[in-house]
Amino acid sequence: MSSRSPVFQKGLLSIKDLSTNEIEEVLSESERMLKVCRSGIKADHLRNMIMATLFFEPSTRTRLSFESAMQRLGGGIIGFADPSSSSTMKGETLADTVKIVSSYSDVIVLRHPRDGAAREAAGFADVPIINAGDGAGEHPTQALLDLFTIRKEKRKLQGLKIAIVGDLKNGRTVHSLAYALARFRNDVTFIAPRQLQAPADIVSSLNEKYGQRVEMSESLDAALDADVIYMTRVQEERFKSKAEYLQFANYYNINRNFLSRSRNDVTIMHPLPRVREISPEVDSMKNSAYFRQASYGVPVRMAILKMMLSEK
Ligand code: NCD
Repeated sequence: MSSRSPVFQKGLLSIKDLSTNEIEEVLSESERMLKVCRSGIKADHLRNMIMATLFFEPSTRTRLSFESAMQRLGGGIIGFADPSSSSTMKGETLADTVKIVSSYSDVIVLRHPRDGAAREAAGFADVPIINAGDGAGEHPTQALLDLFTIRKEKRKLQGLKIAIVGDLKNGRTVHSLAYALARFRNDVTFIAPRQLQAPADIVSSLNEKYGQRVEMSESLDAALDADVIYMTRVQEERFKSKAEYLQFANYYNINRNFLSRSRNDVTIMHPLPRVREISPEVDSMKNSAYFRQASYGVPVRMAILKMMLSEK
């Protein structure tokens, strides 16, 4: 009988599919995987396994950290980073692509411009699907590495004031992160221009299903007393026109001047890529955690792949 963790057996489509205990399990396994990464020892838990990365939208961190994670666990990788090199260009459906690729691999990591694409793909796949971002929907593995980062930086995951700033309407990382944080009793403030505030159904579901009340503001000053500020970029690709995007492109900016007014020990996070919302002068400050955050993509994704696929 397989000793595989029942967590993730069907894949990871939404952070909401995981229980709080399962999230805790991922964080503990990620800690072990971080030690493996730092020791430089190559693990072989996933020897003979193949991970396919099907990326229908641009990515640097997510795809490369998944590939690095799989290789560090001894597995192999196949896939494409640019759908124009795949049969999608010939009119192949997502269903057919996923069906075929499941016969070439043991797990599929999918990024797609359409909300709900990962769940749809899971209906056609014979192997687990990991949602690596579906349109303006969710990005559950990012939320897990965000939680891991908060716990590393703050030594706890509870009782914090966390300000989430930027394009909360279209930002899939913040949708998953808000659902993840709701399990751990924190004060959450959503800071966005009125037109880019988080969708009402997400805010009400946070409240009704998880008892997570959310403060809302348009002003970055609402983050002055936050323990963690999670910045996000305005998601240009989701706007109908460049002109509409430009109305919001420079809405918020974290710089040294802002940080001279905020808490001394505030932690600045960002899923990256950063555009204009954090000035480069902030990068060298000890509070800036976003590059550390990106580096945790590897151990956290190792943990997810191992829990999903390893017999050991
Ligand atoms: C994010 C994404 O793709 O949603 N990037 C990432 O995976 N780190 C954030 C973004 O693109 O703004």
